[in-house]
Amino acid sequence: MNLRDLNKVAVAMTANGKGILAADESTGTIKKRFDAIGTENTEDNRRDYRELMFRTTEAMKNHISGVILYDETIWQKAKDGTPLVDIIKAAGSIPGIKVDEGTKPLPECPGELITVGLDKLADRLTKYYDAGARFAKWRAVIDIGKGIPSHNAIHANAHALARYAALCQAANIVPIVEPEVLMDGDHDMATCERVTKWILTETFQELFIAKVALEGIVLKPNMIVPGKKSGKPASVDAVAEATVRVLKNCVPGAVPGIAFLSGGQSDEEATAHLDAMNKIGNLPWALTFSYGRALQAAPQKAWSGKAENVAAAQRAFMHRAKMNSLAALGQWKADMEKKAA
Ligand code: 13P
Repeated sequence: MNLRDLNKVAVAMTANGKGILAADESTGTIKKRFDAIGTENTEDNRRDYRELMFRTTEAMKNHISGVILYDETIWQKAKDGTPLVDIIKAAGSIPGIKVDEGTKPLPECPGELITVGLDKLADRLTKYYDAGARFAKWRAVIDIGKGIPSHNAIHANAHALARYAALCQAANIVPIVEPEVLMDGDHDMATCERVTKWILTETFQELFIAKVALEGIVLKPNMIVPGKKSGKPASVDAVAEATVRVLKNCVPGAVPGIAFLSGGQSDEEATAHLDAMNKIGNLPWALTFSYGRALQAAPQKAWSGKAENVAAAQRAFMHRAKMNSLAALGQWKADMEKKAA
């Protein structure tokens, strides 16, 4: 492990108002997105769609520090034969790779999941490094419901995250450590806060035990929001204050940057929350975005699988990238959205 290099990459991923494009949907997940825009889930369509984002040069250069890829994409070539990884690098952005292999039911824990993919991970990381990846992602999923999460689900997922992170650093790859508390349930905000604190505390404990260098990771957490079915929406300031409170309690200042997932928030909510947190200021780590849906929903809709819509999709992508970049600096204003509309 070269900690100086790892730290440099982690800082570059989260600094200067730039954030990460999570374009690592598995083939099954991208099918759901394509179904919503009436587009067939073929290898060519997946390539064309991702290529149009990576070729939005201004957005990539100014606002996107890194791109998380799915295995298919890291080996894929653009229509003109250029490897997609080279297009990302030419825009000054860092290629990254999702390395978890999804989730499986956790035995004896009904309704709970464990993320899998540790077997042979060391070999896969070497191949991904050679293909240009300088960071990786592993997502743990914690659901809130009646009697869950259990201690076993919290512990097993935190342990797997730490094993993954240690393997990444041994391969000179920065691990994005992503323990996601889902916002799907009917729980209130206080429950999200309690569970997020629990999984973060356990995760940093496991990272310590696994001897992971915190200067060489990026944390990708959820924000503290009420469950979607709670019927009790929270204000932007309440979300920002609770999220900063939890992070200050759980995340050591040695971590260079925190890049949030959007998790099902609307585009504008995800931007407003990030902006409000950065407006609080005085934080020990950079706070930015690593959004999937909140960056891509608008360009996907604009594209709708049609070549003649590529320019409109690129404009939509540019807009969301710029709004989130401003939010990462605490310089976003709601009327900037309306002006562009
Ligand atoms: P969302 O922003 O759509 O939650 O995706 C981010 C991500 O990478 C989830 O693992």
